[in-house]
Amino acid sequence: MSTDSALAHSDKQYSLHPYTPLKAHRENGPFVISRGDGVYVYDDTGKRYLEGMAGLWCTSLGFSEQRLVDAATRQLKDLPYSHLFAHRSTPPAIELAEALVSMAPEGIERAFFTNSGSEAVDSAIKFAWYYHEARGNPTKKTMLARKRAYHGVTIAAGSLTGLPYAHDGFGLPAIPVEHLSTPHAYREAHDNESDDAFVSRLVAELETTIERLGADTIAAFIAEPVMGAGGVLLPPDGYFPRVQAVLDKHDILFIADEVICGFARTGNWWGSDTYDIRPDIMTSAKQLSSAYQPIGATLVNARVYDALEEQSTRLGTFGTGFTYGGHPVAAAVALETLRIYHDDGILEHVQTVSPRFLERVQALQNHPLVGQARGVGLIGAIELVADKSTRAPFPAEQKIAMAVANAAKEHGVIVRPVPGDTVAFCPPLIIGEDAIDEMFDAVGQALNDVLAELPH
Ligand SMILES: Cc1ncc(COP(=O)(O)O)c(C=O)c1O
Repeated sequence: MSTDSALAHSDKQYSLHPYTPLKAHRENGPFVISRGDGVYVYDDTGKRYLEGMAGLWCTSLGFSEQRLVDAATRQLKDLPYSHLFAHRSTPPAIELAEALVSMAPEGIERAFFTNSGSEAVDSAIKFAWYYHEARGNPTKKTMLARKRAYHGVTIAAGSLTGLPYAHDGFGLPAIPVEHLSTPHAYREAHDNESDDAFVSRLVAELETTIERLGADTIAAFIAEPVMGAGGVLLPPDGYFPRVQAVLDKHDILFIADEVICGFARTGNWWGSDTYDIRPDIMTSAKQLSSAYQPIGATLVNARVYDALEEQSTRLGTFGTGFTYGGHPVAAAVALETLRIYHDDGILEHVQTVSPRFLERVQALQNHPLVGQARGVGLIGAIELVADKSTRAPFPAEQKIAMAVANAAKEHGVIVRPVPGDTVAFCPPLIIGEDAIDEMFDAVGQALNDVLAELPH
């Protein structure tokens, strides 16, 4: 990873990198990506990599979509900045809200713009609190999330994230939150427990948690349809509708965090469609602009919007918003992204290539290191185990998933180690079958390399 270029030297000296062990970075330096083309990126030595993670689960249209470059350039020339506060608006922000709401899950009616997924989640929390205050329930503040969830890093969103690495050292959680069990049957279900019985147990846990805390203290439940950064964890059949039925009884809002799952990633426009969720509030970011510009959104249904409107009338304004929320350049790029999704039939493309992707993921199940291979649409993962029959994990210090990702990188493919000794796959949505094969050939070789290195 280390290079001695002037850029690498400067990075070691001046940058403070997110989610990076700082001393190791200062010593070893960065992996510098300098150029992209289609589903490939190139490092500063010119070596090519297939970007099997679409960056951070986000560059859906790959790295050289000219229409997005043109949309940004046009908007920069016409109006590089204006805002949405106090009744102001811009053509791209108006058109984007309509385009996004038009394709959103049933019942979603309005969009509020942010600059990131974390801000979208923070805004969703604020909207839930405002909703309950509007309805005379100011004590409904606690959030329900799940262990291994990823909802971002800001103080509120980071509190909902259910991964120790995002809390430790920061004193998080800093807002009231209860983390429920992870709906990951491979690790969490009891021996011989059916999916149905596992779901019943998770639903019972939800019910006893509500009883223990009191429904009058709980604002909302937040969930990624497929948990991404926590390990690409797919919910068991029937989980979400049964959870939602319980929430509805107690006026607890359902926030669907679609930051990764949105825009065809799971084989439907929304993870909420794939898993039968009817969100009251929904968050979006990443593929909203194919990551060519930073933009996120928090969307609400009519029930939530009506309460927000009523309360803002009472208070005189809706007192929240970001200077760059709905930034015209970001909005223009996002709008063009949505147009490309429709013009180029991205959903149909995902549905066409997904069987090949899933077949290649599933084939890894036969490898001696792989305990479980899983996926849906164009997102997948392998969970590595020291012993397939007992599901015993490797010792943590072995960093086995990191070893596989590093070996894949040697073979020219970027994949990502995530918690639970898991290697995640999330290529750009434009990927074709040949590139899918190239990606999994390299992952297979990487698994063999790591296996060969293990003590026998
Ligand atoms: C489901 C989910 N929500 C929220 C976020 C936070 O988004 P951002 O990093 O843009 O703040 C992420 C980022 O990976 C995510 O995966």
